Amino acid sequence: MQLRYWQLCLNVLATITITMAALEPPEKNSSILIIGAGTWGTSIAYRLVKRGYTNIKVLDSNTFPSSISAGNDLNKILEEPISPPAADQSDLDYAWNTIEALSSEVWRNDPVHKPHYHPTGFIYAAVGDEAYAKVKAAAEARPDVYSLLEDADAFRRAMPEGVLTGDLTGWRGFIRRQGAGWVEARDILLDVHAEAVKVGAATFVCDPEAGRVAELLYEDNEVVGAKTADGATHRADYTILAAGAGASTLIDFEKQLRPTAWTLAHVPLTAAEAPTYAELPVLFAVDQGFFLSPPASAIAAGEPELKICDEHPGYIHLADGKAKEKSPVPVQRDAIPRSSADNMQKLLQATVPQLADRPLLRPRLCWDSDTPDRLFLIARHPGSSSSQSRLLVAAGGSGNGFMNAPAVGILVADLLEDRLEERMAKALRWRPETAVDRDWFDTQGRFGGADKVVDLGEIPDDDWTEGPIR
Ligand SMILES: Cc1cc2nc3c(=O)[nH]c(=O)nc-3n(C[C@H](O)[C@H](O)[C@H](O)COP(=O)(O)OP(=O)(O)OC[C@H]3O[C@@H](n4cnc5c(N)ncnc54)[C@H](O)[C@@H]3O)c2cc1C
Ligand SMILES: *[C@@H]1O[C@H](CO)[C@@H](O)[C@H](O)[C@H]1NC(C)=O
Repeated sequence: MQLRYWQLCLNVLATITITMAALEPPEKNSSILIIGAGTWGTSIAYRLVKRGYTNIKVLDSNTFPSSISAGNDLNKILEEPISPPAADQSDLDYAWNTIEALSSEVWRNDPVHKPHYHPTGFIYAAVGDEAYAKVKAAAEARPDVYSLLEDADAFRRAMPEGVLTGDLTGWRGFIRRQGAGWVEARDILLDVHAEAVKVGAATFVCDPEAGRVAELLYEDNEVVGAKTADGATHRADYTILAAGAGASTLIDFEKQLRPTAWTLAHVPLTAAEAPTYAELPVLFAVDQGFFLSPPASAIAAGEPELKICDEHPGYIHLADGKAKEKSPVPVQRDAIPRSSADNMQKLLQATVPQLADRPLLRPRLCWDSDTPDRLFLIARHPGSSSSQSRLLVAAGGSGNGFMNAPAVGILVADLLEDRLEERMAKALRWRPETAVDRDWFDTQGRFGGADKVVDLGEIPDDDWTEGPIR
């Protein structure tokens, strides 16, 4: 009985301590370590500097901007929210509408982001029946946002003359003329980084030795920083894991993250063509792929290129690890499967055949990671004593993490300050219960290619392309 009484007292005491710890915001001079200076890590550092934090260190395993960052790319698609968040929405819709609203406010108004947003419009299309059914349902639910493109000519008229000269056989879709387009990706990373380091509040260590996190640093079961490949320890009051597809190699995410790769390459344009292709609406077919206009910096440098991606449910790479079953891990390659290159050429042939015989430059795999519901994972790691954990995770871009990087910065800062809105905290929570028995080959609502998730280990070496593809 005595023992029980004391246990009860201890529990009450522990609860009070946890509550107090949770209510106490970090000091502005608390040391904050961000692992990963990619899309999200850079945005988080930027936001924390803006909120007045003065002691931020960001580690990355590659010189900035990291060659393996999913965001180190010419450009990315941006879609603004079509509904404001409202109480009667499902948790998932509410979370997405909140995330997109936070992001679009930054893209529209923040002086660092705004110049990189090209709101040129967004063509939302498909060829296959199942894929088109999804597009149609989404577009027809919002006639105020999407207009039908009746035929191939309607597609052609959505772009400057001479761009969509292809026959677009089987293409069906809609256009959203406002509130969507594309952003300059690497350029915004560079500017956000420059702004974050400007006042000296954030230091970036981006180096294969001094910046590569080999393991987290634990003390009394609590994360207190990280160790890098050069043997140095980096102690911090708070550690934020934002290592993209590499995050699941540092802690056990209990299957919540699936590192997944897509493929991209670049089609060179001549200087004379650049103005015609400079401000195109996004042409996105959910089962074919998309291409995006060259950023202004590339045009100025005399290297205008369209970035092209084929669309498919994704590649994974299953490897033996500590667990009994194989698990997916990223493998970097500046090459792509031959079938992916073929699909890119097919996409060019159907839409812009005048460019289809050009080389596909700098093909590469681009790794992101998917959560089971494709909503981001932004939470305190449960750690040893749940609400107190000093390890925060920001992972699971799930294919939408670039346009929403501004929101991630804000949400992580709110989480750190224990003022993340309750409904958002619930949706973005650490949620391994959603990943039990996870099927790594789930297509997760995506289409295209072979219409299945492909294990890269099953693609023979001679089925890969390396260097420029013709
Ligand atoms: C082909 C492709 C097209 C996409 N298109 C779009 C789009 O149009 N719109 C959109 O919104 N999203 C798009 N995305 C998704 C988006 O790019 C990602 O969701 C987002 O960039 C993820 O950001 P991140 O910071 O989590 O990862 P990353 O930007 O990849 O950053 C992770 C960083 O962690 C570093 N790192 C890894 N391991 C370690 C370690 N051990 N120690 C230190 N550092 C480490 C890496 O070097 C890297 O810099 C696309 C993704 C791909 C692959
Ligand atoms: C951090 O700031 C607080 C005031 O907010 C101050 O009392 C403390 O000395 C500072 N700590 C360091 C290490 O500068």
